[in-house]
Amino acid sequence: MTAADFLSLADYGRHFAATAPAGVRAWVDGGAGDGITAAENLAAFAALRLWPRVLGDLRAGSAATELFGRPLAAPVLIAPTACHALLDPEGELATATAAALTGTPMIVSTQASVRIEDLTAAVPGADLWFQIYPQPVFADTLDLCRRAVAAGCRALVLTVDAPVSGVRNAEQRAGFVLPEAAQANLRDYAPPPAVEGPRSPVFRGLVDPALRWAEAGRICAESPVPVLFKGILHPDDALKARAAGAAGIVVSNHGGRVLDTVPPAIAALPAIRRALGPGVPVLVDGGVRRGTDVVKALALGADAVLLGRPVLHALFAAGMSGVAHALTLLQTETEAAMALVGAARPGDIDATLIWSGPQ
Ligand code: FNR
Repeated sequence: MTAADFLSLADYGRHFAATAPAGVRAWVDGGAGDGITAAENLAAFAALRLWPRVLGDLRAGSAATELFGRPLAAPVLIAPTACHALLDPEGELATATAAALTGTPMIVSTQASVRIEDLTAAVPGADLWFQIYPQPVFADTLDLCRRAVAAGCRALVLTVDAPVSGVRNAEQRAGFVLPEAAQANLRDYAPPPAVEGPRSPVFRGLVDPALRWAEAGRICAESPVPVLFKGILHPDDALKARAAGAAGIVVSNHGGRVLDTVPPAIAALPAIRRALGPGVPVLVDGGVRRGTDVVKALALGADAVLLGRPVLHALFAAGMSGVAHALTLLQTETEAAMALVGAARPGDIDATLIWSGPQ
């Protein structure tokens, strides 16, 4: 494929599937279990039908929006994904530079291959958020939060849907394990304390046996920047997160990578928006591949979407310029879809733009 062949995010996905090493492919594109949820994330977007309106005033049209008082070129953020060094030698430095160039916030993973202090210093123009994986010792989790804020991250994203690892047969078959580089942010922390008693191997593997609503609330209380909870699918959990101090919610099933056979994230979104009402930022991820998907997510109640795998596909294909190109493609497609449904601004997108007639 030449550069001119990359016309859509799917083109980056196909190039990745055809050329990436088997282990990396299994890690990026795989899902948990039988991959049912991973596939349904995509199918659920494909099954939604837009219902456009015509002849509106589109002259002030733009996908630009804002979250927590800061501007975004489009309602799209880079989802947290581990260890970008597996895709490109520059790792997160490349992704963050592309994020800055395209006006896209990037949520940096706890398992990034670059220390967060080094990343914020190297790419000061990027709007970087930091994703928190709870650490075995709660004091270390709090330390990670403090370090990210001190380094300049503008929000924290606490991932709450992975208390243990998912069943990842594709990775097991390919013999894939995350390399030591994924520990860049975690080298200062103590190894997990020995667990007493006859607990099962699975429950012994809890990332933090102590992390419950109260501890998650403490993270919010101690943070000077907004804390979002990522990985919520149930409206009651969205309400509990809000009560615990979450400034926003990411409706997500982790790209179908932790628990298989849960609903597609886009299907879980409307009930969560209804429960929270307007005013609380709600983001969604899992299966966003087209500008039409961005419009559908906003129509069903999201303020913005996160983009996971396509960023990694583009990083693998062409490093920083690949990611910048992929993000620009999605921004352009989003604006085209907005214009064609008759929405000049993200705020004009509502549920009336989703077809509710017979299929
Ligand atoms: C992820 N995801 C993820 N989430 C998180 O909170 N912390 C992490 O370190 C990672 N790591 C990670 C690695 C890889 C290879 C993938 C594909 C995903 C999940 C990610 O943030 C997001 O929820 C999904 O990727 C969204 O779905 P799509 O866009 O990939 O379909």
